[in-house]
Amino acid sequence: MKMNRRSFLAAAGAAAVALGAGALGAQASEKTSAAADSADAVAKGGDYDVVVLGMGGAGMCSALSAKENGAEKVAILEKLAVVGGNTNFSSSGMNAAGTKYQQAAGGDAATDTVDLFISDTMTGGKNWNNKDLVTYMCTNSAAGIDWLDEHGITLSDVTTMGGASVPRCHRPADKSAVGAYIVPLLQEQVEQAGIDVFMETPATELVVDDKGAVTGVKATNSDGEEVTFNAGAVIVATGGFGANFDMIGMYRPDLVDYVTTNANGSQGEGMVMASKAGANLIQMDQIQTHPTVYQENGALIGEAVRGAGAVLINSAGDRFTNEMGTRDVVSAAELKQPDGKVWLLLDQALYDNTPVVAKYEARGMTVKGDDLASLCGQLGVPADEAQATLDTYNAAVADGGASDPFGRTTGLGALETAPFYAIPVGPGIHHCMGGIYIDGDNQALTIEKKKIDGLFAAGEVTGGIHGANRLGGNAVCDIVVMGINAGKKAAASL
Ligand code: SIN
Repeated sequence: MKMNRRSFLAAAGAAAVALGAGALGAQASEKTSAAADSADAVAKGGDYDVVVLGMGGAGMCSALSAKENGAEKVAILEKLAVVGGNTNFSSSGMNAAGTKYQQAAGGDAATDTVDLFISDTMTGGKNWNNKDLVTYMCTNSAAGIDWLDEHGITLSDVTTMGGASVPRCHRPADKSAVGAYIVPLLQEQVEQAGIDVFMETPATELVVDDKGAVTGVKATNSDGEEVTFNAGAVIVATGGFGANFDMIGMYRPDLVDYVTTNANGSQGEGMVMASKAGANLIQMDQIQTHPTVYQENGALIGEAVRGAGAVLINSAGDRFTNEMGTRDVVSAAELKQPDGKVWLLLDQALYDNTPVVAKYEARGMTVKGDDLASLCGQLGVPADEAQATLDTYNAAVADGGASDPFGRTTGLGALETAPFYAIPVGPGIHHCMGGIYIDGDNQALTIEKKKIDGLFAAGEVTGGIHGANRLGGNAVCDIVVMGINAGKKAAASL
């Protein structure tokens, strides 16, 4: 596909996420003017084998897989001028079990099994998960890592996330944020595969025939005209509704005052469209809060920072939970702290080993002290107590967590190298576990569990895989593994 102005803007947007907000202006304007003479692809509708709604990670994996599995004419409709959706903000990595990279890492990572991954995912989700979908995702996770590799996307560094018994979260070799790494590379693959991309083209309605089959989609093109795409199959990959506070208020009124980590595009329209076409929406009130969110702007502080050893302290200088617990548990523990103040605490060694922290610092989210006492002085936290907290934690790190007062045995890393850093954090809306009811073919189901011909879905727009609580690192596994499956099954259905 020819690179046009809009796709350049999209690449610039993803690159800016990778570089930090400060780089956005220069990067975007340079690329925009370089591409200024290229034609824009304005959607006119027409006949396609597969039309994918949404150009986040799930949409791009679905479209590539559909094309590679025999669909000749594939289009992606993206409502925004920037590709990547929420995947842009995914900071930690992709869970997968039994991979070549876990073998290379050795230690506990090399002992991982698909069964353990399934068990961790079910436990994390409080067994509300659809076990068949979980089994499919976990069983095919290592193949997902290989599929990415075959597309020039290598997640070779392995780290630990909350709720995982062993290290299984795969990220780029330089330990940088996964989303900013994979989005531009997937976009490049989409362009090379000859998939038609129409930016600023929101889908408005699924077309349903008199037998209840989905036969296409109506959309508004970038010139504001209504257009219709006829399609053998439509894959909805439009993400969740974590930025739509009307929907949050409808399903979880207790969360309406929370900040959100979600991109503005997470408005839930894909779920609404699918529901109007007959799909059942399940577990819609299961909305995850992530415990390390910068409250002033909703910026996510990735779980991999805790996976590298960071701890949470309150204003008394005390830890109060196993920081590697699942997100629901850690978020709930934060809310119980007396004055609601919580900081993520880390040292220079962790900073040096976890590149994303420098980006948080560049965005003004960190407080730095030349030593622990100076940091505590700035936070208004008693330094003696904070030192005692770190002494106890560092001793537990040395014995593999055996003496940790909160039972933390994973993601251990001594915090003893000045300067020290703190990031004020609290819970924020992060992931919608509920969504379109699908079967093992990623095909949408009615309330009577009947397949809807022509309608598939992948990624956060679907419900059931993550149950009552998604594990960190499982969203990228979902978009890759289930995205590949959706594309394959959509192509096979033609
Ligand atoms: C994080 O890095 O904490 C977010 C990634 C995820 O939600 O899986």
